[in-house]
Amino acid sequence: MNTSEYTSQYAEYVAQLDQQLKTNCEQLFLKHSIVAQAAQYSLLNGGKRVRGVLTLSVSEMLGGDPKVAAALGASVEMLHCYSLIHDDLPCMDDADLRRGKPACHKQYGEANALLAGDALLTAAFAALAAAPASDSQKAQAMELLAHGAGAQGMVYGQELDLAFENRTPSRQDLLQIHQHKTGALIKTAVLFGAVAAEQLEQVRSPLSGYADKLGLVFQIVDDVLDVTASAEQLGKPVGNDAADGKITFATLEGVESCRAQCSALTEQACLDLQKQFGVRADFLVQLAQTLCGRSF
Ligand code: IPE
Ligand code: IPE
Ligand code: MG
Ligand code: MG
Ligand code: MG
Repeated sequence: MNTSEYTSQYAEYVAQLDQQLKTNCEQLFLKHSIVAQAAQYSLLNGGKRVRGVLTLSVSEMLGGDPKVAAALGASVEMLHCYSLIHDDLPCMDDADLRRGKPACHKQYGEANALLAGDALLTAAFAALAAAPASDSQKAQAMELLAHGAGAQGMVYGQELDLAFENRTPSRQDLLQIHQHKTGALIKTAVLFGAVAAEQLEQVRSPLSGYADKLGLVFQIVDDVLDVTASAEQLGKPVGNDAADGKITFATLEGVESCRAQCSALTEQACLDLQKQFGVRADFLVQLAQTLCGRSF
């Protein structure tokens, strides 16, 4: 798969997700509700859609049903968007810009932003319940999403992230934070692809190894970009981690060390995946490499 094939495949996945997200909003939100408008303001405003793309591409690699994959991928993007809205609130990271526009609470006020997050979190599960999937696929997906997003996953990571403000975490602490706040939902997205293909038990272990490395790289790169990129590039504030008193991989170990670690982790993740899935893993290999080298 050459770069232009990869790029157009990625764009095709994003188009499928955006279509599904629009449909979900029509079915799950009230037209006249301000909170629903706030949720859609944040949700339908781009974003890389990495998590949904992971679901669609893993499903396609395994021969899954694209309609089921689109439903699951859209659900994880709704959940992720909720986490961003809450992450930006003044009581958390206090960030004013998201996806190139004023953060949800800047546009709609804090209370509406809080509720928009609640609405997206709830609607993510409603979207799974409405997926054109078997009962056992829905049950697996709901369990994975609850685990990745909740008190043992993303929410716990956010708790730790805040607890370490104005304290110096060890490398082990940072690994623990990143694995939960970012890695857990990325793993859910990857395993959703296996659910869509009805192969969760068969491929859970190799896919988890790939997802764990990808998730860690994703957050380390995010930390690096916070000190090396511009707000125009990222569509969100830069220097926010330091402003919030957060020590990240970038500040603890330095940008060069982060880049070297990310390259090594990505190479290992790709080798493992190729060993298991051969050329069928081409898209996921390129995705991992692209995310490692990303500049936004
Ligand atoms: C940002 O996620 C939050 C992190 C977990 C680092 P993304 O970088 O995937 O944000 P969008 O969805 O593209 O806006
Ligand atoms: C976000 O980590 C993790 C989430 C669960 C949203 P960050 O706080 O570093 O994400 P950005 O940099 O605001 O996107
Ligand atoms: Mg944060
Ligand atoms: Mg943040
Ligand atoms: Mg960040």
